[in-house]
Amino acid sequence: MWLTCIKSCFGHILKVIAPEEVFSHGEIGHHLNFLREAVLQHSRIITSEVLFTCEVVASGTPGTVQDAPDSQTGAYLRDELYIDVPTKRRRGKGEELIVRGVRQNNLRNIDVTLPLGKLIGITGVSGSGKSSLVEEVLYNALANQLHKASRPVGEFDGFDGIEHIDKIINIDQTPIGNSPRSTPATVMGVFDLIRQLYAELPDAKLRGFKAGRFSFNKPGGRCETCEGLGWRCIEMHFLPDVWVECDTCNGKRYTGDLLRIRFKSHSIADVLEMRVRDALLLFDGVPRIRQRLQIMDDVGLGYMSLGQSSTTLSGGEAQRLKLAAELARPDTGRTLYLLDEPTTGLHFADVARLLVVLHRLVDAGNTMVIVEHNTDVIKTVDHIIDLGPEGGEGGGMIVAEGPPEAVAKVKKSHTGTVLKKLLSAKKKRSKKRKVAS
Ligand SMILES: Nc1ncnc2c1ncn2[C@@H]1O[C@H](COP(=O)(O)OP(=O)(O)OP(=O)(O)O)[C@@H](O)[C@H]1O
Ligand SMILES: [Mg+2]
Ligand SMILES: [Zn+2]
Repeated sequence: MWLTCIKSCFGHILKVIAPEEVFSHGEIGHHLNFLREAVLQHSRIITSEVLFTCEVVASGTPGTVQDAPDSQTGAYLRDELYIDVPTKRRRGKGEELIVRGVRQNNLRNIDVTLPLGKLIGITGVSGSGKSSLVEEVLYNALANQLHKASRPVGEFDGFDGIEHIDKIINIDQTPIGNSPRSTPATVMGVFDLIRQLYAELPDAKLRGFKAGRFSFNKPGGRCETCEGLGWRCIEMHFLPDVWVECDTCNGKRYTGDLLRIRFKSHSIADVLEMRVRDALLLFDGVPRIRQRLQIMDDVGLGYMSLGQSSTTLSGGEAQRLKLAAELARPDTGRTLYLLDEPTTGLHFADVARLLVVLHRLVDAGNTMVIVEHNTDVIKTVDHIIDLGPEGGEGGGMIVAEGPPEAVAKVKKSHTGTVLKKLLSAKKKRSKKRKVAS
């Protein structure tokens, strides 16, 4: 992603902000070398404004990284930080949603019982039938019945217990719209609050600037050359379009008189360029704004800049942003959340943070169904439904179900075999080590 960005910027202003959160440390070293080469070879680069705040804390073989005292990865490799197995599994609400007679793709006419009020993991080897069950049947059918959607539903007989849930939310990795005007701040609804705050400042009141004027999506305070994007698209004959910084507003998106309105010496354009983590400090005294930013940080998006175009987010980032947006909304306590592999692309430390958030939603009485291969997640769920035993024709059955401790005892389950090792490792380490969180 970053690499692509640099390549497409040759001949134009090169600006790379805070790559240390986007790449692992080893990758940064590699990209730094690439960048140095690029600057030497491509003399057409006009400016190179590279804001690096990172340092490479470790690189080399896993053994070297393991011995590096400052590396979080090293701490996990040394087993000094780890995601712990919960001491208790939730008992749930005692209510169930039963999906009867599922025959979609390779699923073999199975009845699937989802205990509500629990964190449920759907496991099984690739091709065992997880997505067929969760997306093609469970989500599509519930969206149709609860929210009047008209999605194509996979083959199955029906539900028992649908009255126990009133909302279904599928938080997937598909991109968030295709408008470059959508940003993490707008998706979270936090930009509306920030605009209101700016409109309440004495300078804004004096000039009669209302909240709408601080929008970059409609005329008023925005730069009209770039229509508030900060960038302009130049169409190149025979070559892909190139985006260049707008030379009227210098990428600031707004007109000069609007930029003079400042909160703690920051203009609204400065806020859009800010990372979530820094904005948390800026808005520390404004609870309604801070609360939403905190949720973004909780799901591991603290490094993201508030004004980044949503179309440029990675699949995992888009999914976590959707999750954060859902968390910011009042939940019903009877919501069923579905997540297909939310840990894709996450570091161990990010997985630990994500788990805290997922468990929080279940603590509020909701049910969460996660399709997952990540063993750190599987060992912390309350209930597992293990599909298989193999992929394709050899799969489609429920091999094991119940809490991880019960699944660990099922010999023919591949998930069970892995869990058995993980759960016994927990017993050994529980006396001596600290816990990641
Ligand atoms: N539209 C389809 N037509 C025919 N077979 C399909 C179709 N979609 C999926 N399958 C098959 O059904 C089986 C289950 O697929 P599914 O996508 O549910 O697996 P999965 O458990 O989610 O795997 P993964 O972990 O790789 O995502 C696979 O053998 C797959 O090839
Ligand atoms: Mg799948
Ligand atoms: Zn402009």
